[in-house]
Amino acid sequence: MKVVTTRAELRAARAGLDGSVGFVPTMGYLHDGHLALVAAARERCSAVVASIFVNPTQFGPTEDLAAYPRDLDRDLARLEAAGVDLVWTPAVEDVYPPGFATYVDVEGLTGVLEGASRPGHFRGVATVVTILLSLVRPQMMFVGRKDLQQSVVLRRLAADLGLADEVVVCPTVREPDGLALSSRNAYLDPEHRRAALVVSTALRAARAAYRDGERDAVTLRRIMHDVLAAEPRAEVDYVSLADPDTLVELDGEVTRAAASLAVRVGVPRLIDNSLLHDPDPELDRPMSTA
Ligand code: PAJ
Repeated sequence: MKVVTTRAELRAARAGLDGSVGFVPTMGYLHDGHLALVAAARERCSAVVASIFVNPTQFGPTEDLAAYPRDLDRDLARLEAAGVDLVWTPAVEDVYPPGFATYVDVEGLTGVLEGASRPGHFRGVATVVTILLSLVRPQMMFVGRKDLQQSVVLRRLAADLGLADEVVVCPTVREPDGLALSSRNAYLDPEHRRAALVVSTALRAARAAYRDGERDAVTLRRIMHDVLAAEPRAEVDYVSLADPDTLVELDGEVTRAAASLAVRVGVPRLIDNSLLHDPDPELDRPMSTA
């Protein structure tokens, strides 16, 4: 596995990769969710490129940029074991050269949900991913369903700018008890780790109601709110039931529906989602209390 830092090193190493290239962008502190993206890329492409870059432009002024967890040595060992060919670990100035002035906005999809709660967040994500894709030039990019809105935004971006032939969205990897893996789970102390389970429990409740025939958007949202309200350590940011493609909030009778939650539990703000109309085996299997 080759590890490069500068744009010039990346360009040289990229030129040495033959066949189709799959790209997995990350901010590091890798867990099995990230590694599932690598495994999917391995399966579909002849070479796999990953990036590790904690992107300052997608963090708000009061967010956790400085505190964001990092462990480069462990990340590189995990990527190597997973069969990655090339890792790009740029410094801030490799991504944003002095005088940097070019930003990318994906309109329409970014004003709601995470975009409404975190102004400027998707401008930072779209800008960095445009730069990463322009330099890595992959055929396919692999992203997680865990960040549903991000996956929708990045699909739009790649199609609009012709920066990848396909954006593959991979299922959310969870702990045995249902908590979605996230680098930010590192901020949970044992008490809040227990409380954090309320997020996936609320999604399970919405799925169960949908499975039993409930189709009213207001009722499905209320079911999630009620589960969250029973956990005093959970501070709800939003509970959404939206069209999975346009992310517009649904009302009345629903058919295809993405349930999304953002909840602060102690220190971290946790997000999770489920497509109610699709199978979601990790959420529907019986809960283990491991
Ligand atoms: P990061 O949070 O490190 O996530 C990198 C990729 O891993 C994203 O596509 C994310 O959706 C996916 N992922 C995270 N948790 C997952 C889980 N439990 N199961 C499956 N996939 C999961 O998302 C970012 O970084 C950044 O915004 C980035 C796209 C790299 C741009 O800076």
